Amino acid sequence: MIYWRDFLIPYEQTVEELKIKIKSLRDEFRKRSEYSPIEFVTGREAVPSIIEKARNLGYSEDEIAMRMEDVAGIRIMCQFEDDIYKVIELIKERDGIDLEIQYEKNYIENKKDSGYRSYHMIIKYPVITVEGLSVVLAEIQIRTLAMNFWATIEHSLNYKYKSNIPEIIAEKLKKSAEAAYQLDQEMLSIRDEVVDAQELFTIKSNMVSKIITYINMLENVGENETAFYYRKRFEDVENIVDEKNEGLKEQTLKNIVEELRVLVDEQM
Ligand code: GTP
Ligand code: MG
Repeated sequence: MIYWRDFLIPYEQTVEELKIKIKSLRDEFRKRSEYSPIEFVTGREAVPSIIEKARNLGYSEDEIAMRMEDVAGIRIMCQFEDDIYKVIELIKERDGIDLEIQYEKNYIENKKDSGYRSYHMIIKYPVITVEGLSVVLAEIQIRTLAMNFWATIEHSLNYKYKSNIPEIIAEKLKKSAEAAYQLDQEMLSIRDEVVDAQELFTIKSNMVSKIITYINMLENVGENETAFYYRKRFEDVENIVDEKNEGLKEQTLKNIVEELRVLVDEQM
C-alpha cells in the first residue's frame, strides 16, 4: 500500500524548485537585456500516469524512487533548436552544485519511432522537506516550441487511443513531426534577425521601466517639478511614431535614463 499523497511531496517540491530556478535564469537574461534561450517552463503533472505505471510494474515505493525517472519532471521550451544546446550548457554548469546529472537522451538526433523529438536530462535533485533530506530523480525535457506543439498533440491522441493510434493517424503524425522539424530548420536560418529584434525590444522596455521608477523616486522625495519635466519629456519621446526616428527615440530614452540616474543618485 503506497500513501501517494505523502510519497509525492518531495517530487512536487522538486518540480516547484526546478521551475523557479529555470524561470529565474530566463528573468535574468531579460534583466540584462540579453536574448533568453529559455522561452517558458512548465512542470509536469504526471500523477495519474505515474500511479498507473507503478501499479503495472508492481513497484514498491523504493523501486519507484530508484527506477522511475519521471515522477518529477519539468519542460523547458526554446524558440530555436540552437537554444536547446545553450540550455543544456546552463544545466551542466550546475552539475555537482545543486543537481547531479545522471544521463542524457538526445531524441533530437535520434528521434523516436513515433516522430518524437526532445532532449532529456535525468538528474538527481536534493530536496529538503519537513521529513529531512531526500534525493529524488527528475527528468528535464528540453524542446523547441514546434517540438512541443507536436508532442502535445501526439500525447492527447495517444491518450484518446490508449496508445493504439490507428496506422493512418500514426503516419500523419510522423509526417507532421517532419514538418515541425523543417519549421525549426527554417526558423534557425532567420534566428539572428529574431534575436536582434527581441534584444532591442528588451533594451527598450528595461529603459522605460527605469524611467518610470526614477520619476516615481523623484516624486517621493518631493522633487515634483523635476519629475513633471521628465514625465513631459518621456511623453514626447513616446509620441515619436515615425519609424525613421527609431534611432533618435532610443538615444533620447538613453539620455533620459542617464540624466535621471544622476538626479536620483544626488537625492539618495
Ligand atoms: P516511458 O515509458 O514513458 O518512460 O517512455 P520511454 O522510456 O520510451 O521514453 P523516455 O523515458 O525517454 O521519455 C519519457 C517521457 O518522454 C514521457 O513521459 C513523455 O513525456 C516523453 N515522450 C517520450 N516519447 C514520447 C512520444 O513518442 N510522444 C510524446 N508525446 N512524448 C514522448
Ligand atoms: Mg522511460
